[in-house]
Amino acid sequence: MSELDASQPSVFDGLNHIQLAELRTDHAGELGAVWIYRGILFVTKDEELRKFAKEHLAAESQHFRFFQEGLPKAYQSLLSPLWKIAGWMLGAVPAFFGRNAVYATIDAVETFVVQHYEEQLNIMPTGLRVVLERFMHEEGDHRDEAAAKSRSKNQLRWWRKIVRGGSALAVRASRHL
Ligand SMILES: [Fe+2]
Ligand SMILES: [Fe+2]
Repeated sequence: MSELDASQPSVFDGLNHIQLAELRTDHAGELGAVWIYRGILFVTKDEELRKFAKEHLAAESQHFRFFQEGLPKAYQSLLSPLWKIAGWMLGAVPAFFGRNAVYATIDAVETFVVQHYEEQLNIMPTGLRVVLERFMHEEGDHRDEAAAKSRSKNQLRWWRKIVRGGSALAVRASRHL
């Protein structure tokens, strides 16, 4: 996966401010994602959940690194400390309640993230679009894995709604700050 990173800094060149604002939301989102899994790992002793969280942490760390290395610091979110805390809580709180709450949370988050990436694709230059599309498919796999493991879509609906609403708010905030 190293071909994502420093070897292709050029995909970030010559972007307009709308594209940069979108990438800021992606950077913020992937930062939050990394911290979700740190939150889960901090709380749970459940071996199945720990394995799940470690695998996902590795994938999200690669996504995060791509934006971290490519997006100039001046365009990164000023609210990064908040995204870390919010992500950590989003992992740690459901982890207290067990597997099903975690899987429902990840299903809801990734459903949101897939849509978010999808909405960006047609405003991105080809080089970036290829990478974002790949991330989108990986998030889709994460969503499907969590959905398959969680008991039912109808469970914890209120919580899924909060997760989606919170994610949408975070995207709006990180577009500007
Ligand atoms: Fe990701
Ligand atoms: Fe993901």
